[in-house]
Amino acid sequence: MVKVTIAGAAGGIGQTLSLLCKLNPDITELSLYDIANAEGVAVDLSHVNSPARATGHQPRDKSDQDALKNSLIGSDIVIIPAGVPRKPGMTRQDLFKINAGIVRSLVGAVAKYCPEALLLIISNPVNSTVVIAAEELKKNNCFNPRKLFGVTTLDLVRAETFLSYELNYPVEDIRGKITVVGGHSGDTIVPLIHINTEISKIVSSKLSPERLENFIHRVQYGGDEVVQAKSGKGSATLSMAYAGYRFTETILNAITGKENKALEPAYIYLPGVPGGEELSRKLGVEYFAVPIEFDNKGEAKRIIFNNNFISKNYEAQMIEIAKKSLTKSIVQGQLFVNGSK
Ligand code: NAI
Repeated sequence: MVKVTIAGAAGGIGQTLSLLCKLNPDITELSLYDIANAEGVAVDLSHVNSPARATGHQPRDKSDQDALKNSLIGSDIVIIPAGVPRKPGMTRQDLFKINAGIVRSLVGAVAKYCPEALLLIISNPVNSTVVIAAEELKKNNCFNPRKLFGVTTLDLVRAETFLSYELNYPVEDIRGKITVVGGHSGDTIVPLIHINTEISKIVSSKLSPERLENFIHRVQYGGDEVVQAKSGKGSATLSMAYAGYRFTETILNAITGKENKALEPAYIYLPGVPGGEELSRKLGVEYFAVPIEFDNKGEAKRIIFNNNFISKNYEAQMIEIAKKSLTKSIVQGQLFVNGSK
């Protein structure tokens, strides 16, 4: 019995993510919340012949809190893709003004109505919205760092795809053999493609320094390709819905015991997860995306990250650059909830 709630379910990401979740037989209730059109999307999805019961919740007016409350009560997993996406020329940080408040109020409701739920944040800028979520949960005395995840899976999905193109190597043989750490925007995105001996050898023999540089740039700024191609009509939705689903499915597989070593990176509060305290001290940042192993409750069991992950100088340099940008985004998120002291 697993209830999954998607807040922002009628949006570009939300609708496709809802469809993918509807197809997962381990989900018994799929609760769709949005300020508009959630009920329509739920009725549409409810005709798909899979076990999950789809329910739609949207407020009648601005004062109506019942829709959100009803959507959240009893949730095991809450996924938040609510908020505005980028337009050409915008960075993810430009979305802060609008999305920070949206994420904070939704997380406030999670704290009230389903404080035990696993919380997956998709809304950008992830580097700050996860911090906002953590601070809001702390204020409500229900912050469990092992249950809060910033979804950075799209960066890994892109890295796997683009590396497969570059090496002319089957993408299914790359999955699980590279990772992406850091954060989720531009120079905070750090692909690590030398953690597996076999892939590392192929990369070293096939990728010239120029092509390596192009690959890294494409992983870091792949989101811009989509924003430009959609020319003002939004950012990645289909690939993001897939990535968000992949992360959700990994957690579900850990819960149901289908995978006993479910691994995926996510942006987390390091000191609160086993193996993270020392890493946080070493890196000098509290939040960082790292590969995580999940336990049978879907919580972060431990961080899978060691010195062997960073074998090249250029990777160590990229991590230094990422830390600088991340520190600013983390402070921005903390100040948004707590104000300046
Ligand atoms: P969209 O505009 O298509 O959908 C957003 C949905 O959120 C809309 O249906 C809207 O009604 C809803 N919404 C707005 N305020 C709400 C509230 N207070 N409560 C509930 N729902 C609310 O946007 P799209 O393309 O689905 O993107 C959503 C977010 O995901 C954006 O912030 C975008 O930047 C982010 N994103 C994150 C990625 C990641 O890798 N983590 C990748 C791509 C996008």
